[in-house]
Amino acid sequence: MQLADELVEYNYQNALAAPADAWTLLAELQAKHCLPRPRLEALKRNLDAVWSQVKAEREAEPKPGQPELQPGFIELPQKYLDNHRRKGEASELGRMLALAGRLQSEVDRVVVLGIGGSYMGARAFFEALCPSYHNELPPKARAGKPRIYFEGNGFDNDSMQDLLDLFENTCVDPAIREERWGAIVISKSGETLETAAAYRIFRAEAMKFYGSQPDKWRRYILPVTGAKGALRDLVEAEGYPEGDVLTIPDNVGGRYSVFTAVGLLPAAVMGLDIRALLLGAATMTKRFLEEPFERNPVLQFAAVNYLFNEELHKPIRVMAVWSKKLEALGFWYDQLLSESLGKQGRGAMPLTAVETRDLHSRGQQHQDGPRDKFINNLVVKAPKHAPIAIGMADHNEDALNSLSRKTYIDLAQAALQGTSQAYAEVARPTADLILPALSEHALGQVMQMLMLATVVEGRLMGMNPYGQPGVQAYKYKMREILKSSENKSSVPGLSPSKSSANLRGESPP
Ligand code: PA5
Repeated sequence: MQLADELVEYNYQNALAAPADAWTLLAELQAKHCLPRPRLEALKRNLDAVWSQVKAEREAEPKPGQPELQPGFIELPQKYLDNHRRKGEASELGRMLALAGRLQSEVDRVVVLGIGGSYMGARAFFEALCPSYHNELPPKARAGKPRIYFEGNGFDNDSMQDLLDLFENTCVDPAIREERWGAIVISKSGETLETAAAYRIFRAEAMKFYGSQPDKWRRYILPVTGAKGALRDLVEAEGYPEGDVLTIPDNVGGRYSVFTAVGLLPAAVMGLDIRALLLGAATMTKRFLEEPFERNPVLQFAAVNYLFNEELHKPIRVMAVWSKKLEALGFWYDQLLSESLGKQGRGAMPLTAVETRDLHSRGQQHQDGPRDKFINNLVVKAPKHAPIAIGMADHNEDALNSLSRKTYIDLAQAALQGTSQAYAEVARPTADLILPALSEHALGQVMQMLMLATVVEGRLMGMNPYGQPGVQAYKYKMREILKSSENKSSVPGLSPSKSSANLRGESPP
């Protein structure tokens, strides 16, 4: 039984236009820029049809020749939990937990290699749910949880070298756990150059550090990939035991894969409760499938955000996160929305803002700039730590003594309320997406909610939310350019400086 106050909720009252009794400037602005309730009501018939369509699609398998369909993420959290209950260690979840346990007990640093949907969810978990300075904590305070790094998410020569240098300086003796490092390489297709190149580089480093025979280094690098593809072929050729390779189901698309081993294996290595993540996600799926509009945050979010973009001419969708720890979650949503609905010249433009930091940068634009934005505040109700008070001081030149008993929670609440009121007074529409806490269970709910809402919104637009044909264009061009300069040491137009050349002067095997 789920307690109501543990549930993620969507409150869109501030987005609605109040019925006007008499003409006022605010009423006129609201009529133009906020959502009149009758428009929401008018959408409901279409929304019901789309809701039925998404429910019907959820068991569908992809068929050749048909538009891409990858609804596997909808039911997967509950399936993983059920299988784990039935089969224990032999289940997919059981294997993830065992492999994560191996990395935790054997290495003190883990680099997660992947990009896009094979990266952003794990990063969101790390930033939201681990202590902000996790990597700086001494081993004892981390209680067996390795330090976490992310690479393979670009072609940044210098940041790659910085990480290699860190490993070289801190990992000296492979016989000591505190000096060993490992990796998780994640790519569904296995064809993504950013990830593939990074895997080569870290594999070569692992061979140097642990010894070049596969049985020396393989146990420290865990692959997560599709049932078929280049990475699958590679790890088979490297002789990986079958049980050490985790599979991303065919019917789960990259950016919808956070609740597969793509997100769950790194999360388990971080020491997070992956069953609670899945329980949160499964709870949201159940609400989506069963609850009426009034209690269904998926349908509410999809409908309101669809209307602001498609009918009220607000193409910029701001996700204003009211915790620094949620910035990576904002970026995860940026990718989910962009790749799912940024098609055929349509789709809202996502933008993550961290408050109150960005009130001091973008705030002016949001309050007073073009009326092209709809703001979703992502708010956490209960903090993890005890409230920190401002406190009294002998010198009161900063005039804070009168606020001495106010805590950071009070300040944040006042800032949120003040910002919402300031926007409302000039008919700048906002809504609040409320997390009960920064917990695995809440993250599970909100991420599943945003994935489901993206699918519903896509269907409302008459668009397929799966697939990302636009991303292929750059990949194709990049491969062409690299092919045309195959036997040259650098790509024409770029002149690598001395410092950017491989400092070790070695080439990967
Ligand atoms: O949503 C998607 O499919 C993409 O963002 C992919 O996740 C991204 O391109 C990485 O692909 P892969 O996992 O095949 O390396």
